[in-house]
Amino acid sequence: MNRYALFLLGVSSIGLRYASCGNILLASEVLSPSHQIWNYALAEGLMAKGHNVTMLGPFADRGNSSDKYHPLLLEGYLDLLLQNEDLDLKSFSDLQPIPFMRALINYSLKVCNHSYHTRGFKTLLSYPRDFRFDLIIIEVTQNACLYPLIQRFGYPPSIAATAFLLPPYAAANFGNQLYTSYLPAYFSDYGGDMGFLQRLANHVFTYADATVRWDYEMQTIEKMARRVFGEDMDSMARLMRHMTVMLCNLDPVVTHPQPLPPNIVPVGGLHVKRAKKLPGNLLAIMENSKNGVILFSLGTNIQSANLGRKTLRALLDAFSKLKLTVLWKFETELNVTLPKNVIVRKWLPQNDILGHRNTKLFISHCGALGTYEAVYHGVPMVGMPFFADQKNNRQQFGR
Ligand SMILES: *[C@@H]1O[C@H](CO)[C@@H](O)[C@H](O)[C@H]1NC(C)=O
Ligand SMILES: *[C@@H]1O[C@H](CO)[C@@H](O)[C@H](O)[C@H]1NC(C)=O
Ligand SMILES: *[C@@H]1O[C@H](CO)[C@@H](O)[C@H](O)[C@H]1NC(C)=O
Ligand SMILES: *[C@@H]1O[C@H](CO)[C@@H](O)[C@H](O)[C@H]1NC(C)=O
Ligand SMILES: *[C@@H]1O[C@H](CO)[C@@H](O)[C@H](O)[C@H]1NC(C)=O
Repeated sequence: MNRYALFLLGVSSIGLRYASCGNILLASEVLSPSHQIWNYALAEGLMAKGHNVTMLGPFADRGNSSDKYHPLLLEGYLDLLLQNEDLDLKSFSDLQPIPFMRALINYSLKVCNHSYHTRGFKTLLSYPRDFRFDLIIIEVTQNACLYPLIQRFGYPPSIAATAFLLPPYAAANFGNQLYTSYLPAYFSDYGGDMGFLQRLANHVFTYADATVRWDYEMQTIEKMARRVFGEDMDSMARLMRHMTVMLCNLDPVVTHPQPLPPNIVPVGGLHVKRAKKLPGNLLAIMENSKNGVILFSLGTNIQSANLGRKTLRALLDAFSKLKLTVLWKFETELNVTLPKNVIVRKWLPQNDILGHRNTKLFISHCGALGTYEAVYHGVPMVGMPFFADQKNNRQQFGR
């Protein structure tokens, strides 16, 4: 073998070594199981390519026990929610934009403070000083809480991700304009076809949201973080600029079209999978329903039990008049007699049911994940949105 070939062999074996296995940290502190589903789908993709994934998050334990998956749980979030009535997301649904923003910022500060005090977080901080990640992915949906991990682990390549479509404050931080004349604020229900006054309000609310998050929330979290990471911590603004790319949960076919700079990459619906075969008894229900099935689910954040007895009654009355079977995901014991065609389960394999040919309709809270799944499987939807982006999702997916 001549020297040139030897040199090439050397280079390629170094290349293989570095290309074969990355050590990746995926960190999120969004208290929403659906964000875990999206983030985990991302982790699964990385593990399938051979990478080692350490996942930090409040639901990190909901994952596959592959030897490449290393969950670090931000534990105790349930107690946090129970102890703080003002963190009840359902109560957010009745708020006007300004109180909504205030409640959301309170929420975000409390969750961040909680995260810093968890065992999972402290475990990550106690990794040896010379421990290296090849890549850090930080979910930027909520706040800047976890940005200092970039500095703690020696500034490896870092990227941002968000399962929350594309929050405007995050987009602005990555150099995007806020297109307030035609992109409705995520917490509004204006739809894409706004009148003059709606555009004006949309402009004010979108900028107020982005400014409050940038000026007040980020600085408050920065102070909180300095107590944890030390006084030599970089500013959040500087750490943010270290993230070069943002993956966001948009798809130009189904969400409001919007211009994106090349560093914001839309990977909308990356969690959607082909339907798997349903387990025996569910399959029997699906196959034996002559007129088809309606799937009814309010997702993972809103519990059906919070709907109140009056709404429950009204829904059941309406369902009892239908010829279709209604499959309802309801988390708590339902203390009423059910109509014959209504079947209640604490948990349902939503994607697999949506993928069954006998599913005729999806009644949903319009969370982004379920909405993408229904679009993928071509199932018509009736929306029952509550808070955050849900009203906006109903508008944009319903264009
Ligand atoms: C994978 O991640 C775990 C947990 O962070 C770490 O202990 C382990 O050394 C990593 N493995 C590789 C091959 O990088
Ligand atoms: C975990 O992942 C492996 C490989 O990707 C797969 O074969 C297995 O079915 C998964 N297990 C669970 C419980 O999801
Ligand atoms: C925000 O939190 C503070 C202190 O915990 C509380 O006094 C205030 O009422 C909260 N505001 C909202 C809008 O929840
Ligand atoms: C932060 O969390 C700790 C531990 O859970 C708690 O003792 C403390 O009061 C919290 N601080 C704030 C400002 O919420
Ligand atoms: C069920 O409802 C009845 C009548 O509304 C009530 O008296 C009873 O206590 C309820 N039972 C449970 C377990 O909630």
